[in-house]
Amino acid sequence: MDQRPIGVFDSGLGGLTAVRRLRRVLPGEDIVFLGDTGRVPYGGRSPATIRRYAREDVDFLLSRGVKAVLAACGTVSSVCPEALEGLGIPACGVLEPAVRRASGWTAKGRVVVACTEAAARAGAYAAALRREKPGCEVLTLPCPRFVPLIEKGVTAPEAPELRAAVEETLAPALDFGADTLILGCTHYPLIAEAIRRFVGPEVQLVDAAAAAAEELKRKLTERTLLSGRETGGGLLFCITGSAGSFASLAGRFLPGPETLRFRHYPPGERGE
Ligand code: DGL
Repeated sequence: MDQRPIGVFDSGLGGLTAVRRLRRVLPGEDIVFLGDTGRVPYGGRSPATIRRYAREDVDFLLSRGVKAVLAACGTVSSVCPEALEGLGIPACGVLEPAVRRASGWTAKGRVVVACTEAAARAGAYAAALRREKPGCEVLTLPCPRFVPLIEKGVTAPEAPELRAAVEETLAPALDFGADTLILGCTHYPLIAEAIRRFVGPEVQLVDAAAAAAEELKRKLTERTLLSGRETGGGLLFCITGSAGSFASLAGRFLPGPETLRFRHYPPGERGE
């Protein structure tokens, strides 16, 4: 039994979709979440910058004494999975769990990956899908308009701006004839309904954050690192951007009895 918290990080709100799932599968675990909201989005940045940010995020969580790290970021998981290696504690990204789930679900062997530009350029989702399911046809669609809208709180499926972004970005998915679509960025579950309405009910949506939460639970269980508590896990949120907008948006996505405690760490001052 291990009472240390689980560390989760993302560039921004997307990580909350993973936190929400972790709360569901591991309600007795404490979680420290780092949202690098001062530098979101990561998806348009260079691999070198994303790698540096990921290392800083991981170091921050390690400095908080976490027992495991979840990179709740499809971009980091695609561009620099090595940032999670050699930490001496279990670590997990969202890519591999999402790919395993999609490979198991697709009957036609045709999968669309919706992700950030950087993740699309890295090509890691497509490569992992073809490795996991040889012969699998993959269409990767970069979706640079989604994260800025979500960070602004535009998530209602009927919002005209969001509808236009979804329709224009995902139009190639309709012709491709996939039966499975990976939400390859952890922000996207927050607009899953808008995506679902556009691609139709027959396309299965793989939530990378949900798949990763299950994977982390498996790793912690295997290594007997769970807290042993059934409920009552605490949440500490650390962010690098403005506290006000994050607090109000987080409250929308993480409803529940828990008290959210926010701390504001401007970039460069997070090590304390
Ligand atoms: N939520 C992130 C991801 O899964 C990051 C999006 C971004 O910062 O561009 O890729």
